[in-house]
Amino acid sequence: MNFFVSFKQLSRRLRQPLNARYAARRLREYHSEPRSLEDVVHWAMHFGGGGYMRIKTMQIPSEILRLARAVAAIKPRIILEIGTASGGTALIWAYLAKERLITCDLIDMAYQEPLFTRFPPPGSACRVDLLSGNSHDPGFKARVKNILNGDLVDFLFIDGDHTEAGVTADYEDYREFVRPGGLIAFHDILQNQPLPTNQVFYLWQRLKKIAVVEEFVTPDNHCGFGIGLVHVSEEGAPQLGPKKQARQEYGVESKA
Ligand SMILES: C[S@@+](CC[C@H](N)C(=O)[O-])C[C@H]1O[C@@H](n2cnc3c(N)ncnc32)[C@H](O)[C@@H]1O
Repeated sequence: MNFFVSFKQLSRRLRQPLNARYAARRLREYHSEPRSLEDVVHWAMHFGGGGYMRIKTMQIPSEILRLARAVAAIKPRIILEIGTASGGTALIWAYLAKERLITCDLIDMAYQEPLFTRFPPPGSACRVDLLSGNSHDPGFKARVKNILNGDLVDFLFIDGDHTEAGVTADYEDYREFVRPGGLIAFHDILQNQPLPTNQVFYLWQRLKKIAVVEEFVTPDNHCGFGIGLVHVSEEGAPQLGPKKQARQEYGVESKA
């Protein structure tokens, strides 16, 4: 750990009580009246706060709103998210899930836990499980399976590891948990991305040939973002064919 990282962490810890108070006040304000889905998306973008208590999503509002509407239409009981980060999208899923939101991230979420688990609106029966761990770890998958206890999820949001190998592993590992008729969404499906490690596009090219999909992409956006949605059929989410075959068939050259 370099000096800058440890200084930043120390400063965050020192400011934590102040930041926690501010976030609690913002959450009370958010909960103070019934919210429409549009309101909730707005809050996910502008909740604010500092340090560990900052709630924010980097999504494009029109894209995430279209996804949220598609998710609301299936009246989800259980939602699973890979990639919590600052909790912006988790705030939206906690509003939509009737019974449970399981959201996870590589980073330790101990500071965020008391705040993020109170995201569901007053009167909601939704319980939030905020997990810290690596989605690629078989032990972590077993933990999710254990929480689900035989239930299937209505919606899976994959927004964690954006490398081609990583996002493909998340799809292959967690698609079995999604019920027939459910939904799976991916963030950052556009080819042109600000980071070379954002490679969701290559998986998306393979998936869109074998599944019923929708794309939520802002027309004038030429770099980054873009949401891809898979409608899971009665047979379940499709297994990907071998990568070599996909390349030959669709002419997609991956960077990985
Ligand atoms: C783009 S952010 C998620 C943003 C969030 N869904 C939102 O829009 O509000 C991606 C997050 O995924 C996490 N992540 C990356 N690889 C992961 C993995 N293998 N398992 C769990 N989380 C992972 C990162 O730590 C990061 O916080």
